[in-house]
Amino acid sequence: MKDNRKKIILQCQNISKTYPGNNLKTEVLRQVNLQFNRGTINLIYWKSGSGKSTLLNILAGLDEPSQGDICYEGINYRSMGDSKKAKVRGENFGFIFQAYHLIPRINVKENILCPSYVNGKQYDHEYFEMLVEMMGIKKLLNNSPFALSGGEQQRVAIARAMLMKPKIVFADEPTGNLDTENTRIITELFDKLHKECNTTFIIVTHEENLIENCEQIIRIKDGEVSVV
Ligand SMILES: Nc1ncnc2c1ncn2[C@@H]1O[C@H](COP(=O)(O)OP(=O)(O)OP(=O)(O)O)[C@@H](O)[C@H]1O
Ligand SMILES: [Mg+2]
Repeated sequence: MKDNRKKIILQCQNISKTYPGNNLKTEVLRQVNLQFNRGTINLIYWKSGSGKSTLLNILAGLDEPSQGDICYEGINYRSMGDSKKAKVRGENFGFIFQAYHLIPRINVKENILCPSYVNGKQYDHEYFEMLVEMMGIKKLLNNSPFALSGGEQQRVAIARAMLMKPKIVFADEPTGNLDTENTRIITELFDKLHKECNTTFIIVTHEENLIENCEQIIRIKDGEVSVV
């Protein structure tokens, strides 16, 4: 019999998230159950304010659910403690944030190399060259992030997330600020990495057709999740 557990890299069970409000509590997610298989591309797609970023941050261990459990490689986040969770994130996850979160006081190259400094691990120099070439940001490496357009910052944030070839890439609207040509380049890069490095992608998007080759499309409506 095929052992399906080996395929699952991340899963969540009965996740709920409620934000405290002035008068009313906002329930953003209700009893969410999801599984993500190794080396697959997964889209989280629905309209603005539906809870996509909330779900992504909870899956990545950057935010806590009000209820429920998340397991990475079969280990529950709750059993890890903050420093172990940070180590797991640093070594295995790459993040592309909706607001990029580049570090302003260091240049573009140092921003991209951050995950290598954080992990204390060497990066693949040839791969770095390929990334910056592909992203069209080679000429910007010595610039400050302040001097970049929104789309350029987004491409730098993508290169940073990819540098250490993480096991899972969490991407929040990774092409939200890009034109058609750059969107095509990014989706090709995602496709290449998921095939060559068995990377799992969990991508929040407004564009349902962002990537054809995806395993599941997750929609959130009124806190309820459905999977296609
Ligand atoms: N820290 C917070 N405190 C209170 N409410 C919050 C907080 N973060 C998000 N919310 C609310 O939760 C809901 C979902 O927010 P979220 O950012 O997850 O949506 P989204 O689907 O990512 O939206 P968008 O497509 O615009 O990025 C929104 O109504 C938002 O106002
Ligand atoms: Mg969002």
